[in-house]
Amino acid sequence: MLRKTFTLLLAALLASAGPVLDRAAPKAVVYESCVVNNTVALTFDDGPYIYMTNVSEMLTQYGAKGTFFVNGNNYDCIYDEDVAARLQHAYNAGHQISSHTWSHPDLKKLNASEITDQIVSLNTAFKAVLGMRPNFLRPPYGNYNTLVRQQAAAQNISLVTWDFDSGDSVGVNYTQSETDYNNTIASRPSTLLALNHETEVNTVKYLVEFAIKKFQAAGYKLVTVAECLGLEPYAFVGQPGTRDDTWDCPDDDDN
Ligand SMILES: *[C@@H]1O[C@H](CO)[C@@H](O)[C@H](O)[C@H]1NC(C)=O
Ligand SMILES: *[C@@H]1O[C@H](CO)[C@@H](O)[C@H](O)[C@H]1NC(C)=O
Ligand SMILES: *[C@@H]1O[C@H](CO)[C@@H](O)[C@H](O)[C@H]1NC(C)=O
Ligand SMILES: *[C@@H]1O[C@H](CO)[C@@H](O)[C@H](O)[C@H]1NC(C)=O
Ligand SMILES: *[C@@H]1O[C@H](CO)[C@@H](O)[C@H](O)[C@H]1NC(C)=O
Ligand SMILES: *[C@@H]1O[C@H](CO)[C@@H](O)[C@H](O)[C@H]1NC(C)=O
Ligand SMILES: [Zn+2]
Repeated sequence: MLRKTFTLLLAALLASAGPVLDRAAPKAVVYESCVVNNTVALTFDDGPYIYMTNVSEMLTQYGAKGTFFVNGNNYDCIYDEDVAARLQHAYNAGHQISSHTWSHPDLKKLNASEITDQIVSLNTAFKAVLGMRPNFLRPPYGNYNTLVRQQAAAQNISLVTWDFDSGDSVGVNYTQSETDYNNTIASRPSTLLALNHETEVNTVKYLVEFAIKKFQAAGYKLVTVAECLGLEPYAFVGQPGTRDDTWDCPDDDDN
């Protein structure tokens, strides 16, 4: 009798808490730092924005590679012709393109199917526009929980955060960011995984070239996230698709 009451109580409690987390489900790996000695991975979030080509060409000019964690529909819709073109340009230049979710939500606030949609919708766009599927995803704000790691694992994608933040998206001015880069380089880390944003004009105008020159002068190799981890950037690489009316962002009114 007592046991039955307890069981009912437990069932009611679990039902009110929503779906139960399956603790045994595989969890995606979370990479917070590079591992290959003497490498630095400069990363740029929140594009593909109007400055993506500037950043891509600046890296290329110095023989450096970078990584772009892009969205499907954040500042711009990934399927718009000019947006898709700048993404293809950076990809073809050999920079790594990775996922930053479809629409940049805080994944900790989403349920399982919403998290999966955020990954799969952008993977669909990557397959169409670039012909690849990425192995890496940076959760917006660096926020994740067990459910996020489990949904990521189900999509075979690993999570990547950072161990250095230029602060460019949270109001730190670029001279302060430069000082932070200077101090970090002076401490001679064996590797660095640096967060920047391609959407910040001062990052594009000043910080990228500053950081590239400083790291190269200090003897570091500027590589992609995959290279600094010794892993493959993509699950597959093939031909992009051809534009059709599925190349469209839902709720995107301006085209
Ligand atoms: C890492 O690379 C630096 C510079 O090439 C070198 O001086 C150092 O000995 C290396 N450290 C390790 C642990 O391999
Ligand atoms: C997830 O949230 C959406 C609403 O945003 C809802 O439609 C859906 O039923 C929820 N799914 C689960 C499994 O709770
Ligand atoms: C993940 O990888 C496994 C093993 O290679 C494969 O069987 C599975 O279909 C993949 N899942 C997705 C969503 O790609
Ligand atoms: C940048 O920030 C630093 C530290 O907060 C401050 O001392 C400096 O005056 C700022 N520079 C500009 C140009 O705003
Ligand atoms: C960073 O260091 C360089 C020397 O490597 C120096 O010229 C520059 O003034 C420093 N920048 C800041 C903002 O401290
Ligand atoms: C980006 O590149 C374009 C074309 O070269 C140039 O006109 C523009 O000033 C650059 N923007 C920034 C922020 O550097
Ligand atoms: Zn972001």
